[in-house]
Amino acid sequence: MCAYLWGSVLKVVILNNIYILISQQSIQQIQSRIDIVDIIGSYVKLKKRGTNYLGLCPFHNEKSPSFTVSPVKEIYKCFGCGKSGNSIGFLMEHEKLSYGETLRWLANKYNIELEETETSPEFKIQQQAADSLYIINNFAKDFFADTLFNTEEGRDVALSYLKQRGFREDIIRKFQLGFNSSSRDDFAKVAVAAQYNKEFLLKSGLVVQRDDRLMDNYRERIIFPIHNQSGKILGFGARIIKSNDKAPKYINTPENEIYVKSKILYGSYFARMAIDKADECLLVEGYTDVVSLHQAGIENVVASGGTSLTIDQLRLIKKYTNNLTIIYDGDNAGIKAALRGLDLALEESLNVKLVLIPDKEDPDSYLNKIGAGAFTEFIQVEKKDFILFQLEIALRDAGNDSTKKSVVVNQVAETISKINKTAEFTRRQDYIKQVSEILRIEESGLNALVNKFIRDKITKDENLTAKTEININAGESLTDKQPDEAFNLFNKDEIHEQALVRSLIEFGLKDWDEDQKVASWLFSQIEDNELDKMLDNKLLVAIIQQYKKWYNEDLEPTAKSFLYGEDQEMNKVIINIMEVNTDISPNWKKHYEGHIPTRAEYFREEVISTLNYLKIRKIKRLIAENEQDLQKATNPEDQLIYLQTQIHLKEMEIEITRQAGTVIYK
Ligand code: CTP
Ligand code: MN
Repeated sequence: MCAYLWGSVLKVVILNNIYILISQQSIQQIQSRIDIVDIIGSYVKLKKRGTNYLGLCPFHNEKSPSFTVSPVKEIYKCFGCGKSGNSIGFLMEHEKLSYGETLRWLANKYNIELEETETSPEFKIQQQAADSLYIINNFAKDFFADTLFNTEEGRDVALSYLKQRGFREDIIRKFQLGFNSSSRDDFAKVAVAAQYNKEFLLKSGLVVQRDDRLMDNYRERIIFPIHNQSGKILGFGARIIKSNDKAPKYINTPENEIYVKSKILYGSYFARMAIDKADECLLVEGYTDVVSLHQAGIENVVASGGTSLTIDQLRLIKKYTNNLTIIYDGDNAGIKAALRGLDLALEESLNVKLVLIPDKEDPDSYLNKIGAGAFTEFIQVEKKDFILFQLEIALRDAGNDSTKKSVVVNQVAETISKINKTAEFTRRQDYIKQVSEILRIEESGLNALVNKFIRDKITKDENLTAKTEININAGESLTDKQPDEAFNLFNKDEIHEQALVRSLIEFGLKDWDEDQKVASWLFSQIEDNELDKMLDNKLLVAIIQQYKKWYNEDLEPTAKSFLYGEDQEMNKVIINIMEVNTDISPNWKKHYEGHIPTRAEYFREEVISTLNYLKIRKIKRLIAENEQDLQKATNPEDQLIYLQTQIHLKEMEIEITRQAGTVIYK
């Protein structure tokens, strides 16, 4: 769940899985007490320089100070390593605290009593849905386990099936496996009688609606509850017992507030400690594989659920270990599925090893076939380095064909290029050495090729950032990157987009004319639905929308309103577009005769020219799009429409360009 809610006046802080809301009043109280020089000064020796303070950067090694603290703007910025932020960001980074913990830390320091209160309505609804689903799932889990052990059908059909497959009762109980009978609505009836809400029952996927009645979704199936990291039940996998061509082998919980397939690793609750201890995570495909390996004493194992690995799953694994060993079926589908996850895993800096299970078996069946001892040894012996394994397969396929071989060289170079974090330099060079030996090619040649792929990737990323595909939801934090990387400062468009946001934040509350403030005027110039056509950077769009929301609620938004929010990405952006060092050099002042104009005096000009630039850019884009449509159009009627549109757009362009050139400022 997103811990920050747009527009809500309350900040949500997640602590030990309990949602606590710190009231805006408390945050404001903290905000008003914060003294950034005092806070940073207790970690870094600061010297006053003009209006700013200067010190040695705590985030990188330096001999001459480039770490600047601006008490006026309440931010810090290091001109050496590029790190920047506000007091909260500094504490989070330096003390490794979460946002909520930082607020508490500050409240404690300034003796402020935190008001932890009511939830916002949107959040309440979300939270209620999640809570209800957890409660229903927990009830269902107990019901299914009871059916498995304490009913005749459960024992005769399901328990005997599990036992015949070799599962011990203690393991069945540990994983809280269950069974739902073949009747149409055994579970639905009990759930309705227990007064569970119909809407949530349907959402949970446990029941479906047929005409007016609720019916069970999982009938005559073994039920595998799926736990989150803290043991709460997110959903279920339900396996058919009597195989049937018409029915799917497994039915899984549909996506809902708590069951998000791309984030689920089956077994992670039971595997956490073992993964930590072994410093390795084994990954298999199926529920039964996990249970089986556990029973054999191999507990550091999770399952992906038969689909290719997602970035969220990899990050979950990375919380515990950097070593991932994938154990998949040795057939083509298994290998392909494994290969699909490889590049992502390398980019996440995981060391990936692979074990293929032979003879059309899967980990569960193979383990049953050869026994626990032999299986453990098999894994140890067969564990292959994934990159080298991929190379081996590709080389075998290429045979003596030299064209195919050169394709292989390119492929492996590209794969190695994914290991591109600075800290992984040695690991990458190791691979280059090993691979060039296997391929019998010059190490320096392969090195150059790998570097080319790294460069290509960087150029591609830069183009992407230039188009500013910064996705707020991607979970990728801008804090990980240098600011200049995230914002391509050489991109003219980006500069203008930033300038618009800067104008709004800096000048929004100034008077535009007798009737309105700058913000009102700006909003009258940009339609709501136009905003994301006008600005490419989604984060900047979000900032403007948030500003507007606050502004319409009669709050008076300033940079600080954003800086003390939880969203660190947004903080970075705001800090980046604000200027820290706008002080005019005293020396220069001495030499300059007369008045030095400041931006604040010319704000109307700045606002108008920025807005016009973006408006013209938007029209130019529309013209280009329309031209393409025109070229593609085949029937005369369509062509006419596009032509008319073209003329209209051109007129608009001329009009705005004219205005931009001749507008008379007050
Ligand atoms: N799976 C699924 N839906 C299906 C088939 C498979 O979600 N219709 C997922 C399940 O998580 C399953 C995994 O893919 O555990 C692997 O599928 P499969 O190998 O077919 O099942 P097993 O786990 O081996 O189950 P069993 O041993 O009982 O055959
Ligand atoms: Mn199986």
